[in-house]
Amino acid sequence: MSSYASENGKKVTIRSFAQKKEKGEPIAMLTAYDYPVARALDQAGIFAILVGDSLGMVALGYENTLPVTMDVMIHHCRAVARGATRPLLIGDMPFLSYQTSPVDAVRNAGRFLQEGGMEAVKLEGGREMLPAIQAVLEAGIPVLGHLGLTPQSVHKFGGMRPQAKSADAARKLLEDALLLEQTGVFAIVLESIPARLAELVSKRLSIPTIGIGAGAACDGQVLVTNDMLGLYDRFTPRFVKQYANLLGEMDRAFKAYCTDVQTRSFPAAEHTTDMADEEWEKFIKAVE
Ligand code: KIV
Repeated sequence: MSSYASENGKKVTIRSFAQKKEKGEPIAMLTAYDYPVARALDQAGIFAILVGDSLGMVALGYENTLPVTMDVMIHHCRAVARGATRPLLIGDMPFLSYQTSPVDAVRNAGRFLQEGGMEAVKLEGGREMLPAIQAVLEAGIPVLGHLGLTPQSVHKFGGMRPQAKSADAARKLLEDALLLEQTGVFAIVLESIPARLAELVSKRLSIPTIGIGAGAACDGQVLVTNDMLGLYDRFTPRFVKQYANLLGEMDRAFKAYCTDVQTRSFPAAEHTTDMADEEWEKFIKAVE
């Protein structure tokens, strides 16, 4: 068992997040959308798993995250929850599951816990989302905030581009982060913002910041697992570090399989079942 996630192998909770910040220990988070990856992440000692709505792009092939529905999210969350028990499990609230009203936000956040096996939810947005965030928190559901490049606002931003690059936008982001903290979120994802802004925000907050494309000074980091594994090549943000080339590995394996089938070198004897000669003879007599 890895020693990273919880040094003594204990279940990670939102209290563990606060402790990491107090001790100045970085938090490692990744996304998962299915059972095998969740299991591998748990075994590797990841601290938290986000079932991100990025699954719409990297697992389902949509252009952006907007088509992802609650039912799709719950389906994937259940698979992840079957594969991982020790990391904190966070479900990502999809487009229109919380923007419509605080009542919708509570109902849908509740589904992540009740049906999806999640332990917290993430939702995108700053001051405009405070009523929804407050309602979800009052229902007893921990919330992870998300500021900066919030992909559900892709059309408002005119594309997936870095955010908070002007003085005014940076000030607004800092104010939003402080408001989210006061409201009670347990941590905030900062996506695609200038590193020095992320550093300042991280210093001003007493809750952890989790960066993605926000520099090394955040209290933790998150990446989309399919990006870091080299399993999605349609669009790779500049901030992604690739730790493997699984598309290359899949290409090699699929081609080798096709060749083996074409040359009849697969299946070999060790992949094949036989029956006793006596039974075979009986069968032949019966069918002749
Ligand atoms: O959907 C997602 O995977 C996310 C992370 C990139 C933070 O929101």
